[in-house]
Amino acid sequence: MNFAKNAPQPAKLIPNMGLKHRNSFGLDSTAELAYEISAADQLPALMKELSDKKVAWRLLGGGSNVILPDSLPGATLLINVLGQEVIKSDDQSTWLAVGAGVDWHEFVSWTLDQNLPGLENLALIPGTVGATPIQNIGAYGVEVGEYIDSIEAFDTKANAFVTIPQAACQFAYRDSYFKQNPNRFIVTKVVFKIPKAWQARVQYADLAKQFADANSAPSHKQIFDAVCTIRLKKLPDPKVIGNAGSFFQNPIVDHQQYEELVTRFPNLASYPEAAGKRKLAAAWLIDQCGFKGKRIGQVGVYENQALVLVNHGGGTSTDLLNLAKNIQEEVRNKFGIQLQIEPTIF
Ligand code: EPU
Repeated sequence: MNFAKNAPQPAKLIPNMGLKHRNSFGLDSTAELAYEISAADQLPALMKELSDKKVAWRLLGGGSNVILPDSLPGATLLINVLGQEVIKSDDQSTWLAVGAGVDWHEFVSWTLDQNLPGLENLALIPGTVGATPIQNIGAYGVEVGEYIDSIEAFDTKANAFVTIPQAACQFAYRDSYFKQNPNRFIVTKVVFKIPKAWQARVQYADLAKQFADANSAPSHKQIFDAVCTIRLKKLPDPKVIGNAGSFFQNPIVDHQQYEELVTRFPNLASYPEAAGKRKLAAAWLIDQCGFKGKRIGQVGVYENQALVLVNHGGGTSTDLLNLAKNIQEEVRNKFGIQLQIEPTIF
């Protein structure tokens, strides 16, 4: 009898694929060669083929943090690896293995259904699980890196699958080892480690306000619901109006620069950071420059949150980047701060 493992099905090729519905900005972009990756074992052969033929490639997860040009030459890899399961449990923690293509918010809901709280502050962040470690997504005082045990990825430099433990991921504010090494790792699976001892984390101002009158600590379900409510109010639904959440990072400045700024602008919105540094609310800086709700052609700044740029329909990456340049210039002139764009520009 032959026990040889079946060869994996090759990745599915879709030539000239329209990506308008595969990016949350709703930009009308065409991928010359789109490959749908439904299983990790499709990657070695595909990456070898692309390398042999010298075809440039890039990855696309949920498309919720990218700015796409009108056309994407070469190969665009759509990561659709699914599956989520509890793989291990001890007295302290539960470990979950999750496919990179799983929808992040659906996964967060599922963990709560399984009575594995911890990720509720990160509810309703658009995108896929595999994309979350790249920019170490964060919201309401929690960052995903705190809950990651390890990452499984195909290392295109070594042409091999690797397991990268949390300690090697270099997680920082909207940053990681993967972001520092672009186009090297293709994340296929994320292993989460969820502590069994759970505590509500509602110190973040917007969230604290929701529970200010409560007599007892909120449950994880109440936090989940509150986060969803706040986000729905502040952030535009990409299905209705194209956007990629925060368009700029919140700049981190040293103590001296903060003191100088706060003397000139006593209402400066900021949060304390480690090592005496200060994180400034980019939304406030942009708002002060008068951009909130402003529209330039088909793109603009969202009326309820100055940190969010929107595509009113028919806008292009050039329109967005021109508006971004305009904002960066005004903020630099007024505050001496250089804003960094958060989404990946393809
Ligand atoms: N503010 C203004 N004008 C505005 C909006 C906000 O002045 O139009 C000021 C307010 O003082 C407010 C402060 O800015 O208190 C901060 O605003 P907010 O609480 O809405 O949070 P944020 O700094 O704009 C960050 C993350 C979000 C995350 C929220 C909640 C970044 C770049 N953004 O936004 O992440 O959901 O905190 O934790 O760190 C994302 O990355 O896509 C994203 C949405």
